[in-house]
Amino acid sequence: MKTTQDITAQKVKGPRITVLTAYDYPMASFLDEAGIDIILVGDSLANVVLGLKSTTEVGMKEMLHHARAVVRAVKNALVVGDMPFEAYQVNPGAAVDNARQFIEAGAQAVKIEWFEDCPKVVSSLVRAGIPVMGHVGLTPQTAESLGGMKVQGRDAASAKAIMEAAKIFEELGAFSVVLECIPLEVAREITAQLKIPTIGIGAGPHCDGQVLVIHDLLGLFSRYQPKFSKKYADLGPQILEAVKQYKDDVISGRFPDDAHSFHQ
Ligand code: KIV
Repeated sequence: MKTTQDITAQKVKGPRITVLTAYDYPMASFLDEAGIDIILVGDSLANVVLGLKSTTEVGMKEMLHHARAVVRAVKNALVVGDMPFEAYQVNPGAAVDNARQFIEAGAQAVKIEWFEDCPKVVSSLVRAGIPVMGHVGLTPQTAESLGGMKVQGRDAASAKAIMEAAKIFEELGAFSVVLECIPLEVAREITAQLKIPTIGIGAGPHCDGQVLVIHDLLGLFSRYQPKFSKKYADLGPQILEAVKQYKDDVISGRFPDDAHSFHQ
């Protein structure tokens, strides 16, 4: 089983860190078998699984339900539970209790997005012995205050603020930090200045690792496709075709045939 120390060591020793999201048992089994280092039970669950508009609409109850399913499948990867908005931004005082529920569910760490009271929350989590993955740049839970779901850090002041936030995560004891949707030059500089690994999503090739949402990688989510995500398979049309064939077979009487039936 991977540890947070193994992940931190990969910054120096390599190889680059591979991270993908999963929300259920079958997908987590595939990712673990493929040797992905970190499986993130992301709050993107809200968008790609539950059909909600914003990640802020998902809560602890749903996140824990899916985290438990992922944990049941994983033998090697490090499982990170993504703290939903309500778990620490609405009430920072409840952050430790909520993070503990992810650990009790079998995750080894939690991820939290940068926000105003973030330093207080990171300190309390680290003091409680809960490993933390930070998240800076485009932080979807507070995207409205950042001008929407768009690239961050394009001007010097915003790039500096992202660098400072990443450094605070490191100083307070986070074991890694996600850099989302920032220019590759900014990500390269943050990666060079931090001792903990950076995990990029829309942050270019110079990060210590990369993360993608599995539904984007497999072509399972068509509502939108971010510029930074790459489709390695297009399973949507294959699913549609299989379901249409099943429908035709049932209507025409071709299914079930003798091979899929029982005899007395
Ligand atoms: O919830 C999620 O999928 C994430 C990744 C985009 C890093 O936070």
